[in-house]
Amino acid sequence: EWSPASFVESTVAELKAQLGDDRVILGLSGGVDSSVCAVLLNKAIGKNLTCIFVDHGMLRKNEFTQVMKDYECLGLNVIGVDASEKFFKDLEGVTDPEQKRKIIGRDFVEVFNAEAKKITDAKWLAQGTIYPDRIESLNITGKVIKSHHNVGGLPEEMHLQLCEPLKWLFKDEVRRAGYQLEMPERLIKRHPFPGPGLAVRILGDITREKVRILQDADDIYISNMQKYICEDGERLYDKIWQAGTVLLSTVRSVGVMGDERTYEHPVALRAVTSTDAMTADWAHLPYDFMAKVSNEIINKVRGVNRVCYDISSKPPATIEWE
Ligand code: XMP
Repeated sequence: EWSPASFVESTVAELKAQLGDDRVILGLSGGVDSSVCAVLLNKAIGKNLTCIFVDHGMLRKNEFTQVMKDYECLGLNVIGVDASEKFFKDLEGVTDPEQKRKIIGRDFVEVFNAEAKKITDAKWLAQGTIYPDRIESLNITGKVIKSHHNVGGLPEEMHLQLCEPLKWLFKDEVRRAGYQLEMPERLIKRHPFPGPGLAVRILGDITREKVRILQDADDIYISNMQKYICEDGERLYDKIWQAGTVLLSTVRSVGVMGDERTYEHPVALRAVTSTDAMTADWAHLPYDFMAKVSNEIINKVRGVNRVCYDISSKPPATIEWE
């Protein structure tokens, strides 16, 4: 049986032996995988680890600042890069989901590499890749369903070696390792979030205004989910594998606000249960919770006049809409 204590102990020892006095670069995303990877490496090699956290401007509301604070509390050596201007500019007018991913993936590598190159004596690139990431990227069928961009992308001319200490782990094991490392629960229990962020949750082209609308709606949804305590005493948020809002910006519907007619966009709420994201079921959220979220979004978020709940499971739907 796999145990977090022996995993942490043996992995730290292996990393020490493998890396010696070498300098290592790690990309942080705010998610549990890269965070656990960083804390493991920090334990093994301390100041020889430099983390890079790129803000593409499509993270959740206030996420970049909050996560940066958490990282600093953990004693990690992190460089935060606000590159949102570049991403928004390059995404202008782009509507195709795979095209969006391609641009974000390319820009991400470019921004990341520009930072990485400043660490001239780096020998390794560490990544928080876990087992299911590699399975989904292997494309056993040969068909690309979605091109997840968090696998691969080494700055080639730096000749870095790849270090992936979590590559045999499943998500629940990564979380257990996080507890073993005494990381804050906020980081450990965080839902997975796609690399391209809210860009794949806005149908059609992306603008700062649409991102702002979606961030506000998403923040209402997620913070209510974190506050909602179920009958068994557990937070609703912790029962859900992943939740988020989707801005149906290519759709408009008529509504009424006071005595004014509105003609605005719907937001779709998504919440699924899963163990590895390969398959997922839509979550049976409590009606009182959905009612509160719907009211709050429609009343507080300008630009949204309707809220829908997505009741599709994977397969045949996917978790994200794009
Ligand atoms: P789908 O939508 O394929 O999502 O059912 C499965 C899991 O992967 C996440 N996801 C992504 N993660 N880059 C990522 O790093 C991507 O382009 C991407 N697309 C989807 C999704 O959030 C879910 O957890």
